[in-house]
Amino acid sequence: MVTVLACAFLVLTLASKPNASITKDCFGSGGNGTDGSLQFNVYQSSCPQAEEIIFSVVQQAVANDLRMAASLLRLHFHDCFVNGCDASVLLDDTPTFVGEKTAGPNLNSLRGFDVIDGIKSELELACPQTVSCADVLAIVARDSVVLSGGPTWEVEVGRKDSLTASRSTANATIPAPTSDVATLVQKFRNLGLSAGDMVALSGAHTIGKARCSSFSSRLGGGGGNVDREFLQSLQQLCSVSNGTLAHLDLATPATFDNQYYINLLSGEGLLPSDQVLLNGAGEVGSLVQAYAMDPLLFFEDFKASMVRMGRLAPPAGSGGEVRTSCRAIN
Ligand code: HEM
Ligand SMILES: *[C@@H]1O[C@H](CO)[C@@H](O)[C@H](O)[C@H]1NC(C)=O
Ligand SMILES: *[C@@H]1O[C@H](CO)[C@@H](O)[C@H](O)[C@H]1NC(C)=O
Ligand SMILES: *[C@@H]1O[C@H](CO)[C@@H](O)[C@H](O)[C@H]1NC(C)=O
Ligand SMILES: *[C@@H]1O[C@H](CO)[C@@H](O)[C@H](O)[C@H]1NC(C)=O
Repeated sequence: MVTVLACAFLVLTLASKPNASITKDCFGSGGNGTDGSLQFNVYQSSCPQAEEIIFSVVQQAVANDLRMAASLLRLHFHDCFVNGCDASVLLDDTPTFVGEKTAGPNLNSLRGFDVIDGIKSELELACPQTVSCADVLAIVARDSVVLSGGPTWEVEVGRKDSLTASRSTANATIPAPTSDVATLVQKFRNLGLSAGDMVALSGAHTIGKARCSSFSSRLGGGGGNVDREFLQSLQQLCSVSNGTLAHLDLATPATFDNQYYINLLSGEGLLPSDQVLLNGAGEVGSLVQAYAMDPLLFFEDFKASMVRMGRLAPPAGSGGEVRTSCRAIN
């Protein structure tokens, strides 16, 4: 029954997304997940308990540290934006290999790698070399949203883990918090994602924290749309150190809701790249208004955009495997 429902959903998804590289097969056989072909039932027989194992580790990690939900959600984004969702972000540097962890957007900022390790070692005990680290990141991102009070969705799986990583691509493709709207839109378009996806996915900043160094250009008060009291509180917070952390959503910092957009309306977006969306041309500004008004619309669009981001695939022919440790190729 579950399979049938999943397939009905899959067919609908395919009908409305002609470019999606998803395996059309719903009932077993065929489609082995290569070349970024994703589906829902890949682990149904090979590792039926996978999602349960993952959820329980994420639940424990978030119970210990509320911010971990945000950090884990961000890992999937920083993975997918660099040559597709292939767990390239998880590879450690070695004396002969440079990974992505020291790229500008990641260094001293990404966290949650130990949680992924914990999940992976449980999965390797239950079903050795079956569930890819890239799929773990996608499932963990969904679970983090759910555990923060956000919507749920079915995660397509069947990704392979990369054999390589690219620090220069990470530097180039992950948007900077100082980007203007045109640059933000372009960085998403370069990957086949839309301006609408960019606005909806930016709503992930309804949870988590940022370092003062990520929004120091806002502290001078330039650029319009700044709430004076909010600015003063940030100036005070950051006068201590550039490494101090501020909530991305000051009102409901650990709840996945549409408060992020409401904050933008009152000039209380934290990152410059958040606040600029309010006056973004065309649909960018109007989507901010719409999501601030309508939490369910935000949830629906966020889910769809997460699925689209999760389909970003590595270049054809780049090869892949299921890693036994997410930190190193086999
Ligand atoms: C639109 C372009 C985006 C920019 C410029 C951006 C930039 C940033 C920056 C600078 C930080 C703070 C890093 C630090 O100071 O250590 C951050 C945090 C975060 N980002 Fe984004 N981001 C963007 C999109 C996204 C997307 C698409 C997602 C996920 C779907 C996401 C999820 C998060 C989360 C959850 C955090 C908090 C992480 C934590 O507390 O550990 N961001 N982002
Ligand atoms: C599908 O891909 C083609 C070529 O890459 C592009 O021109 C077209 O706009 C895409 N269609 C959708 C619905 O994304
Ligand atoms: C399955 O993978 C093999 C190589 O790993 C490939 O040759 C074959 O075409 C794939 N089959 C399907 C249906 O994707
Ligand atoms: C990427 O950015 C980091 C930090 O800004 C810099 O040190 C490094 O040289 C860059 N690496 C590449 C390969 O572009
Ligand atoms: C804080 O970071 C900003 C931007 O990276 C930099 O210009 C400034 O000098 C830093 N301030 C301190 C006290 O380190």
